[in-house]
Amino acid sequence: MKILVVGSGGREHAICWRFAESSKVKKIYCSPGNDGMSQIAKTLDIAVNDFEKLANFVKANNVDFTFVGPEIPLSLGIVDYFQQQNLKILGPSKSASKLESSKIYSKKFMQKYNIPTAQYENFSNINDALQFLKNRGKNEKIVVKADGLASGKGVYVCNGKEDAKNAVKHLMVDKILGDAGNNVIIEEYIDGPEFSYLAFTDGMSYSMMPVLQDHKRVDDNDQGLNTGGMGAYAPALLATTEVNKKVEDIVIKTISGIKAEKLDYTGVLYVGVVLNKFSPYVLEFNCRFGDPETQAVLPLLDTDLTDICTAILNKKLFNMKINWKNDFSVCVVLTSGGYPGNFKKGLEIKGLEKICDKNTILFHSGTKFRDGKFITAGGRVLGITSTADSMQSAIAKVYANVGLVRFENMHYRTDIAWRAINGK
Ligand code: GLY
Repeated sequence: MKILVVGSGGREHAICWRFAESSKVKKIYCSPGNDGMSQIAKTLDIAVNDFEKLANFVKANNVDFTFVGPEIPLSLGIVDYFQQQNLKILGPSKSASKLESSKIYSKKFMQKYNIPTAQYENFSNINDALQFLKNRGKNEKIVVKADGLASGKGVYVCNGKEDAKNAVKHLMVDKILGDAGNNVIIEEYIDGPEFSYLAFTDGMSYSMMPVLQDHKRVDDNDQGLNTGGMGAYAPALLATTEVNKKVEDIVIKTISGIKAEKLDYTGVLYVGVVLNKFSPYVLEFNCRFGDPETQAVLPLLDTDLTDICTAILNKKLFNMKINWKNDFSVCVVLTSGGYPGNFKKGLEIKGLEKICDKNTILFHSGTKFRDGKFITAGGRVLGITSTADSMQSAIAKVYANVGLVRFENMHYRTDIAWRAINGK
């Protein structure tokens, strides 16, 4: 098989790595990919939104199917474009991607299909939004969200109405997220631990992956700015079997809604959930694998990923038994100091060759290979994942490996998976 993976980060490296483990795979292309994955995938110089060039490449090279990593090309309609050309591709159509690319659409979908989520109002006019906030409490926790895609930066958890008014002004007047903030949601704050539930789906049936927890804040103890994710671990056993069952019911309702709306959806459905008094509420849908969740979950997969993709493409997922190892997995993300704000690039990364443990995998996110060495080229630089037969061992192993790598201003959290150990 020849496969094209679209995207360039640690998530896409992990997807390519998993495909490369399959005896059925002859060639993997990743566009644009990154230098760190070049041993397993040929990287291409085609942007994720240049659908015409990507499709022409697929045709010219007889690629069997394309797997899309990030949300941007999905929201722009890469799946629709490829399907019009009779090319096989995994991912939701442009309309189905609105479950992620419009928070208002996804809230309305949740209401319609009776999926538990926070109470909300949506606004296209700033005066209405500010008027609505006048009646809220001075110290009330309020969530303000940009409607559009914002790479994890569109959610403000505000302390009181003044803070919330500022968030609305940032989005709607200062336009700090551009058009993503043209419309906003103001919703109630729901307190509790958050979990990432991912499922493979062919739009008709689904298969759950082990439940994960992501660590979104940049510093230990969930302090500092929101990032796309500083690390993840699986399985997150804090989510009990009873809770997992409730979330599976949510996935069933979501797939029913997708069918009822006649949405064309294949690939991965990601349900971000907050657990309040043992009741799960949906925070968001994502229409793709999570990053860094993918780096933590795919090492636990014990079924050939190409078989899963084939079943999805043939709408035969109901027929497929997907196996997961009984191990524990922890991924720690190494970032450039300053991320998610300003940071330096081009710094030499040392020690990568020392990572040689067979249960530890190095995933590249923002690196380049120049003059015989890897240098930093992004905010999220590397992800290191270790697996073991206990969470404690996986944590010890991953941090031993993190200690082998260094670059100037390297930053990482020292408490990834701490909730798994602390029990809260
Ligand atoms: N880790 C969060 C996300 O992928 O959206």
